[in-house]
Amino acid sequence: MALVIALNKGRIVDDVLPFLAKCNIVLDENPNSSRKLVFNSLDQCYQVIVVRGADVPAYVENGIADIGITGKDTILESDSSLGFYELLDLQLGVCRISTAGLVGAVEPARGLRVATKFPKIARSHYEKCGKEISLIKLSGSLEIAPVLGLADVIVDIVETGSTLKANGLEEREKLLDISARLIVNRASMKTRYSEIQHLTDNLSRFLGLAS
Ligand code: PRP
Repeated sequence: MALVIALNKGRIVDDVLPFLAKCNIVLDENPNSSRKLVFNSLDQCYQVIVVRGADVPAYVENGIADIGITGKDTILESDSSLGFYELLDLQLGVCRISTAGLVGAVEPARGLRVATKFPKIARSHYEKCGKEISLIKLSGSLEIAPVLGLADVIVDIVETGSTLKANGLEEREKLLDISARLIVNRASMKTRYSEIQHLTDNLSRFLGLAS
């Protein structure tokens, strides 16, 4: 039976595919140029499914996929009760989650309006700071929320900082560093241990990760 890997579609697929290829996992079609969502490796030993990042934990936790690769932000935001192991930090897609606001704007002492697509991460940050906030859940393009007056600040991913700059925002506080993580279904970890170990060893080697 093929080992099933759920990949976060988008940048993670681009980042991870070359390293899967080095591990001899070459797919029958290129997910970046295909509308298909399920791919097989040429040797039929692996099946790769390409899903929305937020859905990767559900596929792994429910045993549809043995392995998942998605961002640490997605794992922290997932509803799962951690029905999976986080085995490897692939150190790909490295970026950070930060707060940001309009350049020079002073944050109100009370009732800070925070727009984000990371409600758990944002809530936990402001709880630690003891600040009461009003949270506005958005799905993307967060940068326009302060510009249009929907929010005072955003909690968002920052990689190069160019999106913030282009929209007249400044990075304020870094909450955490994030990167792509490899997660494994708990049962698969027992039943397919040697295959999973073989793959993670190879990935670690090709990614130049310290063992
Ligand atoms: C992410 C993030 C920022 C941008 C940061 O957006 O939400 O908008 O990348 O990158 P930068 O610091 O290099 O400019 P994404 O492209 O994932 O789309 P989204 O805004 O729809 O979430």
